[in-house]
Amino acid sequence: MKSDPNSRWPETANRTRVEASAPTAGKKLFVKSYGCQMNVYDAARMADVLAPEGFAETKVMEEADLIVLNTCHIREKASEKVFSELGKARLLKKARKAAGLATKIAVAGCVAQAEGAEILRKQRAVDLVVGPQSYHHLPRMLRVSDHGPVIDTEFPIEDKFDHLARPSEEKIRERGASAFLTVQEGCDKFCSFCVVPYTRGAENSRTVEKILDEAAILARAGVREITLLGQNVNAYRGRNEQDEEVSLTQLLYRLAEVPGLERLRYTTSHPNDMTDDLIRAHAELPVLMPFLHLPVQSGSDRILEAMNRRHKAADYLRLVERIRRARPDIALSSDFIVGFPGETEADFAATLSLAKEAGFASSFYFKYSPRPGTPGAELAAQTPEEVKIERLARLQETLEAQRRAFNAAMVGREVDVLFEKAGRRAGQVAGKSPYLQAVQVEAPEELMGRVAPVKIVECGSNSLFGRLTDEFSLDAPMRETN
Ligand code: 5AD
Ligand code: SF4
Repeated sequence: MKSDPNSRWPETANRTRVEASAPTAGKKLFVKSYGCQMNVYDAARMADVLAPEGFAETKVMEEADLIVLNTCHIREKASEKVFSELGKARLLKKARKAAGLATKIAVAGCVAQAEGAEILRKQRAVDLVVGPQSYHHLPRMLRVSDHGPVIDTEFPIEDKFDHLARPSEEKIRERGASAFLTVQEGCDKFCSFCVVPYTRGAENSRTVEKILDEAAILARAGVREITLLGQNVNAYRGRNEQDEEVSLTQLLYRLAEVPGLERLRYTTSHPNDMTDDLIRAHAELPVLMPFLHLPVQSGSDRILEAMNRRHKAADYLRLVERIRRARPDIALSSDFIVGFPGETEADFAATLSLAKEAGFASSFYFKYSPRPGTPGAELAAQTPEEVKIERLARLQETLEAQRRAFNAAMVGREVDVLFEKAGRRAGQVAGKSPYLQAVQVEAPEELMGRVAPVKIVECGSNSLFGRLTDEFSLDAPMRETN
């Protein structure tokens, strides 16, 4: 849920330095994403759309001709961060202008969708405001923006995915062996705290054909793990080649057949859409990784009802039991909100108790943040900030202890690791366990992009450490690709 691609901002305004003479072949694009994994996926799609326009990506903002901030509106803090970053971008634009270089600033993502023209009023250096459903219009918008600021926050009738450029094999390889693939967008659930149904719109699923096509392209370029993305991914209802409706389960079975794909994951799921057949898929499909992000938000029935979650705490616990029966080693993670309006100490105690009973391998926890336009923000009984802070600390203690215990229990076990990038220290390669843990291994670089068995020998605070098992050989055959 956290993303922070390497970005470099000028440290202070008056230290902003721009090299006028920097040789630039073509134009440079700098995209910074905030918030969820779908924004990471969208950022890559924006780069793909702009590549045919002559834009090459850079990680150095100072050299960018186009700066895109791909924003998140989920909590006030995330949303406000954008405006401080825009202030810095404005100074950079000014410094570049003094050096004879033109710069455009675009605000994309959910803040763009929610605030639209308001962004231009708050920060006049912005040239483009583009919502999450409109970024295929970026090339045209860029041209129009030569004549003044331009906004596109429509929910267009045409499918943006039909208008997106395909990334080159080289680009896919550069992005690594694990990729995201959006299969569904939007949400019809209307949890009373959440802006998503307003910023991302109604549920909309891509067709099976397009998803299989994208997955095959990724796998052919060396991607070994795909995480299917959707705001409500297990509510996926797409059409197959015969125009029949297909569930996420059926889609997973189709994707399991894609040559070269060794791992599948999906996120984020709503408990009410965890069907029996989806649970069964966790028992039957070896490519489906034993990790499931299943947000519960609260353990109090009263608060769950006020949140419009449409399930009770006991329903969630029963569901966890059924999932574990199907796949005993599955690791679960969750999202929690503390301090929803009206939350009493007893309600919070119920959340702590649910967390203890369910047992999570990792979790995200947030203080409730009233979002404009959502029903929760209108409720009178808002929880005082100091109460939220205190409850968050207690919940954190419980959940972090669970995370540490889960990781510590890995020591001595043998797990498959998908190696993705150079490790922290020289000679190390970093990868992911089936349970989404970071694993550092002393191994040859050739292992990147491959799955290999690893014995876990040590548990650090952020990573596990392991060594390749004796049976492993670099010459071992990989799964077929065509
Ligand atoms: N305040 C705090 N947390 C929120 N989330 C969504 N909306 C809010 C809000 N208004 C959390 C939920 C969700 C995760 C992505 O963000 O836990 O699952
Ligand atoms: Fe937001 Fe609820 Fe939809 Fe998740 S299910 S995106 S929390 S409204």
